[in-house]
Amino acid sequence: MIVARDPTALRHYLDPLRAHAERVAFVPTMGNLHAGHLALVTQALETGAKVVVSIFVNPMQFAVDEDLDTYPRTLDADLSALDKIGADVVFTPREADIYPYGSKAHTAIHVPGLGDGLCGKNRPGHFDGVCTVVYKLLELVRPDIAIFGEKDLQQLLIIKKMVRDLGLQIDIQSGATQRAEDGLALSSRNQYLSEEERATAPLLWQTLRDCASQLQADRSADVASVLTPARTALEQAGFEVDYLEPRALADLRLLDRITEDCALFVAARLGKTRLIDNIQIAAT
Ligand code: PAJ
Repeated sequence: MIVARDPTALRHYLDPLRAHAERVAFVPTMGNLHAGHLALVTQALETGAKVVVSIFVNPMQFAVDEDLDTYPRTLDADLSALDKIGADVVFTPREADIYPYGSKAHTAIHVPGLGDGLCGKNRPGHFDGVCTVVYKLLELVRPDIAIFGEKDLQQLLIIKKMVRDLGLQIDIQSGATQRAEDGLALSSRNQYLSEEERATAPLLWQTLRDCASQLQADRSADVASVLTPARTALEQAGFEVDYLEPRALADLRLLDRITEDCALFVAARLGKTRLIDNIQIAAT
């Protein structure tokens, strides 16, 4: 496995591959890799393409009061996990490679509409930071395929729109959310949870599953009649709920009935840790 620590090194390794018409599949990450990230890398390897993984904790997507400084950085463990599963190239740029004049002075990419609600509302500027770094990484890696997790479904839909709108010739694929045995979606932020919070955290996924099965059983139900008591139950268990709502997959419009394919999205804080998850519901 090759570790490219800057764009010149990356070009040095990728140009000959492209000259031999090798396909490239790309998995961008912020490191601290867990089985969710590694499942995306395995999916990339299964395409038969050469697999590039990036590790870059992107300052532009963190608000000033967020966890940029404490975000877990575990490069050595990440590299050995990637080596073990057979990734071809790991790209670990420095901040100056991506933002030569700092992230605040950098041109931003804004995808209108999809980023306004859900996490966009509670984390202003977050998706501009995500889109800007993903666009830059896509330009540097120039992959045929890029793979993102359904765990961050709003992010996935925004990136798909950005790629479509900007006419990038890249096949954006998605990977299913990987979970712990008790259902909690794997996340680098789970390690912030205390033992007690970790025991409560799976309630988030159980709640999504229960709500989805109720709404699937009666698609004409008013979603508020299902979600309002569910939200109260989460709050009684100690969650501070940012949102628990159904949104259309086509455009993330808020729905009051399950009239089209959608997902229930949840974000909730447990102590200091913000957890997100979602479950998709088919309209038929
Ligand atoms: P990060 O949180 O490191 O996640 C990298 C990729 O792994 C994303 O596509 C994310 O959706 C996926 N992922 C995270 N947890 C997962 C799980 N439990 N199951 C499956 N996939 C999972 O998302 C980011 O980084 C950044 O915003 C990034 C796209 C790299 C831009 O900085």
